[in-house]
Amino acid sequence: MTKVAIVEGDGIGHEVIPVAETVLELLHPEYEYFAVDVGYHRWEQTGCPCADRDVEALKMADAILFGAITTPPMKDYQSVVLRIRKALDLYANLRPVVGDGFDIMIVRENTEGLYSGIEESGPDRATTLRVVTRAGTERIIRKAIDLAKQRNGILTIGHKANVIKSDVFFRDICLDMATAAGVQFNDKFIDALSLDLLQHPDRYNVVVTTNMFGDILSDVASYLVGGLGLVPSANIGDRYALFEPVHGSAPDIAGKNIANPVAALRSAAMLLAHLGDTSGSERIETAIQKVLASGIKTLDLGGTAGTKEFGGAVIKAIKREKNRTVLSRCYRLY
Ligand code: NAD
Ligand code: IPM
Ligand code: MN
Repeated sequence: MTKVAIVEGDGIGHEVIPVAETVLELLHPEYEYFAVDVGYHRWEQTGCPCADRDVEALKMADAILFGAITTPPMKDYQSVVLRIRKALDLYANLRPVVGDGFDIMIVRENTEGLYSGIEESGPDRATTLRVVTRAGTERIIRKAIDLAKQRNGILTIGHKANVIKSDVFFRDICLDMATAAGVQFNDKFIDALSLDLLQHPDRYNVVVTTNMFGDILSDVASYLVGGLGLVPSANIGDRYALFEPVHGSAPDIAGKNIANPVAALRSAAMLLAHLGDTSGSERIETAIQKVLASGIKTLDLGGTAGTKEFGGAVIKAIKREKNRTVLSRCYRLY
């Protein structure tokens, strides 16, 4: 039986993930769903935000739907999100940004770079080691090349090789592999690329970059489609896969029923595409687009619908569309 782990996490995770879970349960009542409770609230209660057994529970799932986790204000804190990505070796973070006239897939390396965790902090100096390995680079660029081929699109390599040696290393491996693969490609410095992506999104298709550049670029790129409430992501490794909004726990709006659940719903759509249900994935996206087109929107998009009301409208739209032709896209991850 297909097993799906559900992690609400913190903040608006408690609001947007139940909406996405309801949709998954509607489309796949036959899956087994189980909750894994990790996050800041667990740290407040027990002093431990994520136990080893929670990581082991996540490994039992065929796919994980994940909300977001608040960073606790503690010294030497190890991020739960980063721990899970590393423990499950989820090396490819795919962040699709799709709008009128553009369809961009940001492919972010997800296990090394500035997130190596190799760091120290003294009274007068703090350092973080930016680790870029050949194996880590080859596997992410292989993923990006596969996606560029499948989408018949150009591959853009984002880096800062004008300044950082580890990015000379990254860029050179990327250029060699892209040349050998015969895909159309170019490369750009990440700062210039960030602006150009906003000015000319139609010139981009697959964008591959290192961990932290990809983190920042994906928040920036969400501007193209209406903000963080809209952009989902897949964290994929060779064995495990986790799907989560690009946004965080948004403590500033948590508990008010105003968060936009679209990023979480789209993460559920990516999860279904991963599990092979492309039609279910398309049905979720079609329903989201219909509801938005009908004028039902959350506050971030200038509307008045609450998280629950928007979710209810999407569920109705999915039920209504049950036997009709699907109009929109499916997320292709492989
Ligand atoms: P954030 O993404 O949570 O919020 C940034 C801004 O976007 C806020 O103003 C918020 O209200 C708005 N926003 C985010 N999602 C929204 C939605 N669905 N609908 C409407 N508005 C939305 O980033 P932040 O405020 O920098 O971080 C808050 C916490 O989340 C921090 O503790 C951070 O470490 C954590 N975080 C976790 C993850 C994760 O678990 N994957 C990702 C990013 C940030
Ligand atoms: C994201 C988040 C995480 C990251 C944090 C919470 C560790 O910002 O998923 O984009 O930096 O990767
Ligand atoms: Mn981020």
